[in-house]
Amino acid sequence: MQTRLLSTSEIEKLLSMKDIIDILDKTFQGMGNGTVINPTKGTLDLGESNPFPPYHADINSMPAYVGWVDAAGIKWAGGWLKNPEKGLPYVSAMIMMVNPQNGMFTGVLDGTIITNLRTGAQTAVALKYLCGGKKSLSVGLYGAGVQGRTQTRAISELFDIETLKVYDLYPEAALKFAEEMKDYVSGDIIITDKPEEAADSDVVITVTHAKDKFFKKEWFRPGSILFPMGSYQECDEEALLSADRIVVDHIGQCLHRGALKELGEQGRITKKDIYATLGELAAGKKNIEISEQERILCIPIGTGAMDIAVSAVALQKAEEQGLGGSYDFTA
Ligand SMILES: NC(=O)c1ccc[n+]([C@@H]2O[C@H](COP(=O)([O-])OP(=O)(O)OC[C@H]3O[C@@H](n4cnc5c(N)ncnc54)[C@H](O)[C@@H]3O)[C@@H](O)[C@H]2O)c1
Repeated sequence: MQTRLLSTSEIEKLLSMKDIIDILDKTFQGMGNGTVINPTKGTLDLGESNPFPPYHADINSMPAYVGWVDAAGIKWAGGWLKNPEKGLPYVSAMIMMVNPQNGMFTGVLDGTIITNLRTGAQTAVALKYLCGGKKSLSVGLYGAGVQGRTQTRAISELFDIETLKVYDLYPEAALKFAEEMKDYVSGDIIITDKPEEAADSDVVITVTHAKDKFFKKEWFRPGSILFPMGSYQECDEEALLSADRIVVDHIGQCLHRGALKELGEQGRITKKDIYATLGELAAGKKNIEISEQERILCIPIGTGAMDIAVSAVALQKAEEQGLGGSYDFTA
């Protein structure tokens, strides 16, 4: 019984960003149609919010079954806050795939590259349903890190990025980002040291490690879509409460993690305040008419279903192309 093993570079050879956007779109449709099973993530705190153990990290178990690829699996993915200063990536993840019909383990894949690519693709797919047919847009980005790059790459697959304003706590990170991302932006990449400037954009993405709620209510411009993508507390609660409509990928998860965690746990934002899920939009069960007056808050907190669907397609393609290693764990 061979289990296929796929590394970062093999996965990058098998799947383009466009492929991943298409896979996510189908998987969001499956979430809307009820053919995806995606329990809420379970978290093992390794010192992210407690002093013990002192590793400033948390790791999540993210199981899912995805009907359109008939695949099941689990991603085991975490964030280590001290890693960037050690030259290691903040996100570390592995994915284990299983044949849902007989329980045989079909694949073990690097989960870090899949997490990074699908996190960008989530935003691009969400914009497909939130942008009312617009073809070009301006982007404001907070956090010039790994996810900031995949956000930019994925959005550029579906839209013309007119301008991209980037703010990072470390100006050198923003400079490096601007150099590496210039081919994905048709207009200019503007590095700003005034965080409020980046918010004056059609699409505003916060994708940092911030816990200090730096994004202010006054910055949330009518007619813009705000994506708080970081795992902690990037937005002031008044900014979140000022949203005219809230769209999320997974209601249970979004009310207990990420941007809405505190408001959700205090009961100040509840299920009834969520206008739609991305699944409902993708499946055509709900629609959003874009208005220049409305502030839309969209939170793709990240679901295992996206990782499992991407892994299933990567395994299918690897089999067709004879790529990757294999190991018999039963030998
Ligand atoms: N929603 C999802 O599906 C999803 C998936 C993966 C990662 N994430 C989250 O995205 C965030 C970023 O992850 P990453 O892999 O890009 O990390 P990274 O370390 O590669 O990049 C983070 C960047 O943010 C900058 N930064 C930190 N605090 C800031 C602040 N207050 N203002 C502006 N810039 C700031 C850092 O200098 C760095 O350049 C994390 O919170 C991570 O957990 C979310």
